[in-house]
Amino acid sequence: MEHHHILRGETPATLRRLKWLFTSLGLSGAREFPCNRWGAVPSAVPITLRDSRRADGAQLLASIREEMGDCKRCRLHEGRGHLVFGEGSPSAPLVFVGEGPGFDEDRQGRPFVGRAGKLLDKMIDALQLARKDLYICNVVKCRPPGNRTPQSDETEICSTFLVRQLMAIRPRVICTLGACAARTLLGTLAPMTVLRGKVHQWRGIPLVCTFHPAYLLRNPSQKPSTLKDLREIHRILSAQEGG
Ligand code: URA
Repeated sequence: MEHHHILRGETPATLRRLKWLFTSLGLSGAREFPCNRWGAVPSAVPITLRDSRRADGAQLLASIREEMGDCKRCRLHEGRGHLVFGEGSPSAPLVFVGEGPGFDEDRQGRPFVGRAGKLLDKMIDALQLARKDLYICNVVKCRPPGNRTPQSDETEICSTFLVRQLMAIRPRVICTLGACAARTLLGTLAPMTVLRGKVHQWRGIPLVCTFHPAYLLRNPSQKPSTLKDLREIHRILSAQEGG
């Protein structure tokens, strides 16, 4: 009775989300997987990363993708070539979250495959990880016209899917690339100068903010700071492995 009372005023969408949340919380497993060489960023011995606790991440991701369908929930669908959902391991220990697809991503339907993507690949190399073992996605899944910053209603609508992707994977660390992703997940308008340099928490998952690779292409002098952020990610993953 009490529960009915609490839920009475809720919208069907909220109830659907709650149902999904309870279902996914009930489903968890644990697996081990060997991480490839690790150590370029910090000089560390190779470690074995436990992957995220979700055994059913692939299924959950597939159902989120299916629910998105031929999404027309916001104006961004009007100019898109492909919806870029995200890609990588459903049990990734680390998820990178960018802003939204650019020209190349829109054409190929894959995240971070253009110039910024090449730099992200180097960042992943620096961590001595493989792209296929991580998960990469964006706040908005359709390319904003002329690569403009997504508007708040667009991020609000699309980030419900991002949240569900992250909950499906439950990575050990989230790394936001640029202000849009950081602000969306942390619910703040704070600038990067404030957001960087500390470990935030997103629903109990450590979250590290770093610069967007596209920004780094224009401002290479920030690369050393980015390396510090990557070191922090390594530290968190190593500490979790050791603990
Ligand atoms: N920039 C982003 O934020 N995401 C991509 O997928 C590509 C470029």
